[in-house]
Amino acid sequence: LPRNYIGLANTCHDPALAIVGPDGRVRFAEAAERYLQNKRAWHSPPDDLLRSARLLEDHCDEAADLTVATTWRKPTLAAGRFLARTLMPLQRDMALRFGRRKMTAEAEWWLHQQLLNAQFIDAGMNPNSGDSLAFQNHVRRLHQAPDTTRRAYYHHLTHAAAACYTSPFRQAACIVIDGYGEDTALAYYHFKDGELIPLPVKKSAANASLGFFYSAVCWLAGFDPNKGEEWKVMGLAPYGKFDENIYQLLKATVRYEEGRLVPGKARWLGPELLALRRDPSQSPLTAADLAYTAQHYFCELMTQLCAWLQRRTGLENLVVGGGCALNSACNGGLLADTGFERLHVYAAPGDDGNALGAAWLAYFDDHPERRADFVTDEPHTAYLGTEISEPNIANLCRYGLPSVELRGPELYRKVAGLIADGAVVGWIQGRAEFGPRALGNRSILADPRRANVKEHLNANVKFREEFRPFAPSILHEHGDEYFERYQETPYMERALTFRSHVRDRVPGVVHVDGTGRLQTVKRAWNPRFHDLISAFHDQTGVPLLLNTSFNLMGKPIVHTLEDAISVYLTCGMDALVIGDRLFQKAPGAGAEAQDRDAAARGASGVGRTPAPAGA
Ligand SMILES: [Fe+2]
Repeated sequence: LPRNYIGLANTCHDPALAIVGPDGRVRFAEAAERYLQNKRAWHSPPDDLLRSARLLEDHCDEAADLTVATTWRKPTLAAGRFLARTLMPLQRDMALRFGRRKMTAEAEWWLHQQLLNAQFIDAGMNPNSGDSLAFQNHVRRLHQAPDTTRRAYYHHLTHAAAACYTSPFRQAACIVIDGYGEDTALAYYHFKDGELIPLPVKKSAANASLGFFYSAVCWLAGFDPNKGEEWKVMGLAPYGKFDENIYQLLKATVRYEEGRLVPGKARWLGPELLALRRDPSQSPLTAADLAYTAQHYFCELMTQLCAWLQRRTGLENLVVGGGCALNSACNGGLLADTGFERLHVYAAPGDDGNALGAAWLAYFDDHPERRADFVTDEPHTAYLGTEISEPNIANLCRYGLPSVELRGPELYRKVAGLIADGAVVGWIQGRAEFGPRALGNRSILADPRRANVKEHLNANVKFREEFRPFAPSILHEHGDEYFERYQETPYMERALTFRSHVRDRVPGVVHVDGTGRLQTVKRAWNPRFHDLISAFHDQTGVPLLLNTSFNLMGKPIVHTLEDAISVYLTCGMDALVIGDRLFQKAPGAGAEAQDRDAAARGASGVGRTPAPAGA
């Protein structure tokens, strides 16, 4: 009988749900944080009962049976033991250093969270617990499916499936690297004609984890890893410099040894490292050297592991999965230093992507003969989430929010003109992106030519730290013109270096080290976004836009029409486009605000007259 496959990402953070149809095609994939509007949705089930019923109705074949597939095959006692081993000493170190009573509430809370995580996963693993995965107990009744089964897969195998089945490769070496799996934080696979074959290697120690390394650094730098603020470490790093003392301290916690990670001699966070911790009330720039040195060491370890994998397999294609694959600054340099020729990192390499991985694994278990045919020449789409419905948009007009309807080239010309005139535009089209990055369907767009656009967006639109950089979305046809060693980057998964002669053209998206975390835009992948950037290119000679996610700092990307409107009305966004409908505040307000800010700082913006082509 045909089956629908429901994949659940059931780690204690980033829960998600994916639906694969009886034909193996993805019908839906979305993280729970979106509909909950709660960043990373800690300790939330991936399968909210009422919402799941609606999703099944919308995306499953009615006549088909259901299989529910999850990540985590074995109880995570090893992870629990690892946490106990590594975090308890940390607690002791902190108690020694600060005195038990002087430990900050934040530190106590962080430790408490980490220990809860281990318990949560163990609860989710137990089919009788019902604490999470309520869905599986009710799915048969909800869907009236005659036969519902449940399958569970190894955590790293679900990462590898999400990573490899979305790739354009028939054959590749795959590395999965994250916080932890059932018994280690690192796994290798050989992906061949749709089959995932684990590489028999000596296992890394459970407490040698690059994911935890980066989380710990994030915490030391004064940010919050529970909120996913590792991005801030990456963004801060280029403001710092290499520090040999910090490097040696970090090296003593975890190190590379013949294709694996081993724990160093030092305790996970000894007193010397704890002494480096930035108090969140201090400027983030005081942690820049720590961020730089940690990012440097992270890249060093990733490069060593991937280079070893290349030597071991002799393959040309590399696929990276697991939360560490979100380190775009590191991904950008991987090909240069590892011997691989092509790289694929999917839009959702973190634990949310495991929903997709689990659903596909269950599908291919039932249809092994379809594995080889499944591979395509193009990377898999990331536009798999919820769509904002047309009737709801029309309703807005009834309540006094003025808008105009524009179609096709007229819409693109108008919006490109607004952006070129300095407007910051919310851009919502079609289905939401799966994964943490906005790729032109839930984006805020701005003119990259304006020197002061970064400050304006951080201060008046996103309300976030001054040092945070912004990313460019560039027409594929111009990638080589703008970037050194240009590589197709469909999901903003790698940062590349801008050619030196173009940096002055687009100062708004060039980070302080000359890099940009680009998104390659091809017409075949996203025609509307491609047409919009092309219209901007026609008017300004610049084939790229500044693209940042449609959210405010600390919040997930907007999910409903109401979320989008409330962000639009409460920040310095000048215009909002949803589908074919354009909403506008007072024309030019944003540009004037930017010019005012720039004048106050003595900086110069780009004039509002379109620059000549090629300028
Ligand atoms: Fe993971």
